[in-house]
Amino acid sequence: MMATTTSVSSLLGFVLFVSVGILPSISNPTIDHEVTLWKQGDLGVNTYRIPIITSLPDGSLIALAEGRKHSSGDSGPKFLAIRRSKDQGITWSNASFLEDDGETPDGLNLGTVIVDEEVYRVFVVYSFCAHKCVYHTTFLISSDDFGLSWSKPYNLSEQIGTSLFLPGPGFGIQKKQDPHRGRLITCGHTMPGHDGVYCIVSDDHGKSWRIAGNITQRGSFEPDESQLIELNNGVILMTSRNQGNFHCHCRIMSKSYDGAESFAHADIYVDETLEDPVVAASLLGLRTTVYFSNPANKMFRVNMTLRWSKDNGASWNGALTVWKGASGYSCLAIVPGMQANETFIGMVFEKGHLRYYESIVFVRFRLE
Ligand SMILES: *[C@@H]1O[C@H](CO)[C@@H](O)[C@H](O)[C@H]1NC(C)=O
Ligand SMILES: *[C@@H]1O[C@H](CO)[C@@H](O)[C@H](O)[C@H]1NC(C)=O
Ligand SMILES: *[C@@H]1O[C@H](CO)[C@@H](O)[C@H](O)[C@H]1NC(C)=O
Ligand SMILES: *[C@@H]1O[C@H](CO)[C@@H](O)[C@H](O)[C@H]1NC(C)=O
Ligand SMILES: *[C@@H]1O[C@H](CO)[C@@H](O)[C@H](O)[C@H]1NC(C)=O
Repeated sequence: MMATTTSVSSLLGFVLFVSVGILPSISNPTIDHEVTLWKQGDLGVNTYRIPIITSLPDGSLIALAEGRKHSSGDSGPKFLAIRRSKDQGITWSNASFLEDDGETPDGLNLGTVIVDEEVYRVFVVYSFCAHKCVYHTTFLISSDDFGLSWSKPYNLSEQIGTSLFLPGPGFGIQKKQDPHRGRLITCGHTMPGHDGVYCIVSDDHGKSWRIAGNITQRGSFEPDESQLIELNNGVILMTSRNQGNFHCHCRIMSKSYDGAESFAHADIYVDETLEDPVVAASLLGLRTTVYFSNPANKMFRVNMTLRWSKDNGASWNGALTVWKGASGYSCLAIVPGMQANETFIGMVFEKGHLRYYESIVFVRFRLE
């Protein structure tokens, strides 16, 4: 095992750590509520995909998804759909659409949601014409009333250029600790063939953005869809889709110690515990625990699983099967608790019986 690791990493010219950790369970999340947010055909939409969720400083939750108008495919025209909850995810507002790209042949793709808790502004970053355009567009919309109303799309490509940038999917972050406290960060990927991850950052509450650190593709080492969190010590932990199944059918993980300015080769590793069928996944930090969600299977998008780690993702202490059947993309969020004695986290994920994109559900977990 280590020999394989060493030879593969020396082939790439950098050290690759393989983390294999199995420890007894020390946390006990239990599912306490589930609700379907969108299903195929709702409001005349063919398929809802790419669910993202976040909590907001007013204690509400917003969930967003692509409403793919005519087919389940990645290109094609779409709505950007939203639902909101003011009661910790028990009930949700009726679905509505924030954006409608008409009948464009290659519409919008989510995307990340980022909350600036210093100025109470919510951003959504998404790409437009990712598949059929030579010059790509990254759009930014924002809300100053906790997701009720949204700005017109701002063409962020004027600042970050017209290279393809597919943010997330999931959430971006605002740094809570040094270095670069207050910084907004979202990372994303480019297209197969010239893949890799790069991050964009803003140090002025989303007025100006620039490209920061990256992880470049090298052969089958092809980090793709990514999501990041800030650990308690100010370090960024990112999980990336392992598009080329580099070394394993598992996740590529990376760390940045300088607010996403760089990801050192020594801080990029594959985590063999996090078996993965090549899909988007999610991380969440809550106090000293790191949570991770994905369809935990090497080959197929099935078996949606929530894991937790007490050592910042170095090992995984337990796993809870959320849904054994067809499962796709997922996104985690802290659910603001109503009582001091109650702590919840939430997850939105693509759930089906035959196909994972039949519906998008919200699941709430009670933490003991
Ligand atoms: C939500 O949708 C239901 C069913 O279509 C409808 O009866 C209800 O009036 C809607 N609520 C709001 C606030 O629009
Ligand atoms: C966004 O701006 C870029 C750079 O100026 C431009 O190439 C692109 O066409 C714009 N996108 C749209 C949809 O207008
Ligand atoms: C990626 O980051 C390296 C520094 O780590 C930099 O030299 C390189 O120009 C960056 N590549 C792109 C495409 O931004
Ligand atoms: C589902 O995930 C659990 C937890 O990792 C694992 O033990 C089990 O083998 C998985 N089942 C399938 C069918 O992938
Ligand atoms: C938390 O406290 C509230 C009110 O005191 C109580 O109703 C609820 O059952 C408690 N929850 C748990 C998980 O103990």
